[in-house]
Amino acid sequence: MGRTALVTGASSGIGKATAAALAARGFRVLGTSRDPESLKPEQRADGVEYLPLDLGDDASIESLAPALAGVDVLINNAGESQSGPIEELPGEALRRIFQVNVLGPVRLTQLALPGMRERGYGRVVMVGSMLASFPLAYRSSYVASKAAIKGFSNGARHELTPFGVWLTTVEPGSIATGISERRTKYIGAGSPYREDFGRMLAALDRNERAGITAEKVAATIVSAVEAARPKARYAVGSNAPAVFALRRLLPGGVVERIVHRRHDLSR
Ligand SMILES: NC(=O)c1ccc[n+]([C@@H]2O[C@H](COP(=O)([O-])OP(=O)(O)OC[C@H]3O[C@@H](n4cnc5c(N)ncnc54)[C@H](OP(=O)(O)O)[C@@H]3O)[C@@H](O)[C@H]2O)c1
Repeated sequence: MGRTALVTGASSGIGKATAAALAARGFRVLGTSRDPESLKPEQRADGVEYLPLDLGDDASIESLAPALAGVDVLINNAGESQSGPIEELPGEALRRIFQVNVLGPVRLTQLALPGMRERGYGRVVMVGSMLASFPLAYRSSYVASKAAIKGFSNGARHELTPFGVWLTTVEPGSIATGISERRTKYIGAGSPYREDFGRMLAALDRNERAGITAEKVAATIVSAVEAARPKARYAVGSNAPAVFALRRLLPGGVVERIVHRRHDLSR
């Protein structure tokens, strides 16, 4: 097929599984890591070339411009999972999550689009989160960043379809990747939210451990890439089809209560 794909955050979890799946489908695959040289063999997907990318650093993003000019498929997967009560989220943490989860992926997309448009073919997948569709307390910065990246994808989608370029969002539910260990947490020592926050985090970690595999999400991403007319949104994990169907049927307040009870919060 001769197409080239670039997958951000290809050293772990969903990104690594997606890079491996695309390589197995015959794509030339470029994967990124903040520090490719330090990756152990088990962190590398078979048949994938690794490039350095730190989404927190604009110069690092711009250094990928030559590679992105030749990319047919861009999977914006790398991201930060942040948690904390809105009252206690430091400004620096808010700026970083929007840089890493939103502004960085948008800039990578801008660098890839001219080549895709000129060649008349392109696929850009934003890896969002089901939490953007089902918001959760103490995850507001993460929910907002994933809603924002979905907004860019949905808003820009029809600018690109006349050129054969499709933007889509894949929203995973709970996926067993070990992301819980890497989650950033902000809570003060004497915080009035501490007890609730702790219960929510324990439930989040439990749900993640019981989640589906990264390979299942990768299969959804590959099917989105290979669709002739990719949908605006795909959701996978956490019983997504049933949960989205219920959301259409139930009042919003009931859905909010179900989401919070699943995370041991009585709201
Ligand atoms: N797991 C879940 O339950 C779940 C649910 C919904 C959505 N998601 C989303 O799915 C995506 C992947 O999640 P995952 O569970 O596979 O996570 P993961 O296992 O923690 O992998 C994250 C990847 O992102 C890279 N990365 C982290 N920070 C980065 C930065 N500042 N700049 C560039 N790369 C960075 C890491 O690479 P290096 O450390 O090598 O740089 C790693 O390859 C994320 O966007 C996440 O929000 C996950």
